[in-house]
Amino acid sequence: MGAIFCREPSAYTSDTMSQRFSTDILVIGGGAAGLTTALNLAPHARVTVLCKGDIETGSSHWAQGGVAAVTDPDDSVTAHIQDTMNAGAGLCDKQVVEFTVARAGAAIEKLQARGVDFDEFGNEFHLTREGGHSHRRVLHVADATGKAITQALTDRVLDHANIELFNDRVAIDLINLSKLDRFANRCAGAYVLNRSTGRVEVFQARFVILATGGASKVYLYTSNPDSSTGDGIAMAWRAGCRVANMEFNQFHPTCLYHPHAKSFLISEAVRGEGGVLTLEDGKRFMDRFDSRAELAPRDVVARAIDHEMKRSGADCVYLDISHRPEWFIDEHFPTIRKRCAEFGFDLTSEPIPVVPAAHYTCGGVVVDRHAQTDVPGLFAVGEVSCTGLHGANRLASNSLLECLVFAEVASDRIRAQLHAPFESIDVPHWDESQVTDSDEDIIISHNWDELRRFMWDYVGIVRTNKRLQRAQHRIDLLKQEVNEFYSHYRVSNDLIELRNLIDVAELIVRSALLRKESRGLHFNLDYPDSADQPIDTILFPGSVEHLQLLRPRA
Ligand code: FAD
Ligand code: SIN
Repeated sequence: MGAIFCREPSAYTSDTMSQRFSTDILVIGGGAAGLTTALNLAPHARVTVLCKGDIETGSSHWAQGGVAAVTDPDDSVTAHIQDTMNAGAGLCDKQVVEFTVARAGAAIEKLQARGVDFDEFGNEFHLTREGGHSHRRVLHVADATGKAITQALTDRVLDHANIELFNDRVAIDLINLSKLDRFANRCAGAYVLNRSTGRVEVFQARFVILATGGASKVYLYTSNPDSSTGDGIAMAWRAGCRVANMEFNQFHPTCLYHPHAKSFLISEAVRGEGGVLTLEDGKRFMDRFDSRAELAPRDVVARAIDHEMKRSGADCVYLDISHRPEWFIDEHFPTIRKRCAEFGFDLTSEPIPVVPAAHYTCGGVVVDRHAQTDVPGLFAVGEVSCTGLHGANRLASNSLLECLVFAEVASDRIRAQLHAPFESIDVPHWDESQVTDSDEDIIISHNWDELRRFMWDYVGIVRTNKRLQRAQHRIDLLKQEVNEFYSHYRVSNDLIELRNLIDVAELIVRSALLRKESRGLHFNLDYPDSADQPIDTILFPGSVEHLQLLRPRA
């Protein structure tokens, strides 16, 4: 085999064994993070973007509230920084927060230039408010901000001659050259399942960007779409990257409670615009938990709801914005009103039933200020990464902001390295010689259900050592079974995702067991207080014996 990648940046090559594709930059993920990085780099190099399905498969498309950015003269960057740090419960990296918040304005301007029309009021942006924000600061497009952003970015991507978008592709594993004899630690691409053909393809690239989103599907109830199976975190971990703060799983306080609603999110902006939380008897309760009441940060509100549901035995609490005029609700929350109506609830005239659900993965692949991971050539941007911005609890609407800002820094860093000398190397084909087709797919779906249920029951909003240990034991058993399956049978989408979910569940539980305190989103009844010194949980790949706590905050 000859050398096949990055010789001729614009040429794709393929062969008959497993199809091979070669490109300069491989972006795995087509959400806000992946599409923005692809667009930034496309003027300089050949870019390939992989998505599991179409654009609706990522969380970005479903984002409701909006993007946090200081645009009001009465607001200030200092206040946005402080709100982020307060929500993060002592674990935010202050420099990263300052850096990200300071770049919000430029990120918004770029989005506008790419075709996103944020809602306006007069000649100003219309700003909504969400929990933990001391000012109205969230730019939005009604209650479907993510749809507007991903649509605008996708239109640009599809128009760009230097970008090739492959749908229905699921990356299985990253290719780290250090696994081949003679070669240094460097990421050279990924093995990818083509979901349409069932074949595994090889995508070789000089730079790989993980933009695969979060891992909230590890829980039974989640606001996230099906793609959030933590693939990027699991792949990076297996490829030799550190992973941090995985115990901080954010539960959004308000998802619609209905057996068929599949945890449809009711934006925090509903509370920002005056919505109140009540019990079945109509009484408000949040002021008993926090002086900011419904607009306290998410960890506080979700825990309060959990407490009230357990105390009263109720299946849900209620969110009531019916005191607002109908025109107002139609203007600000048309998507939410429509979706509620499909389940028989009228947002304009009655309280609607809500429950918390897994929403966001604050931890992830450790990256530096340039979105560079521990493996040279591999970057991670967006929810897959752990930049230090969110600490122990993400402030509302700071996620899309992080996607946009870190897409910029990753692109800048890669652009600066594009002209450095580079040795192209062939990587081995995907080896299917030892595997057969599975006739036991039912085991995979049972294991999926089992994992998500015990993660919800034992590793949810309130944890104990005993529950965490119980979860760990179940994970060990599942891991053994799935690894056996993985070595003997041809890979399928469900098997790839289950393997990743189990790896991610293990990372979450190990991190949770290491943290001997309660902080932000991690609440353990055996250690209800916060330690004096906030410390990140950083897991090192290779051996469970090497798990460590590191990086104390100043
Ligand atoms: P995603 O948008 O999740 O995209 C991941 C991409 O990776 C997808 O294209 C997927 O197909 C692809 N992918 C995953 N695994 C693989 C694989 N193995 N192979 C190939 N492709 C793969 N945040 C805010 O800041 N403001 C909000 O208003 C807001 N509202 C939200 C509402 C909802 C309902 C949800 C679920 C989240 C919300 N969030 C919000 C969070 C925010 O939307 C996400 O954190 C953010 O969009 C993540 O973007 P991303 O590009 O990192 O990943
Ligand atoms: C929401 O609209 O409530 C989601 C905002 C976010 O997750 O940041």
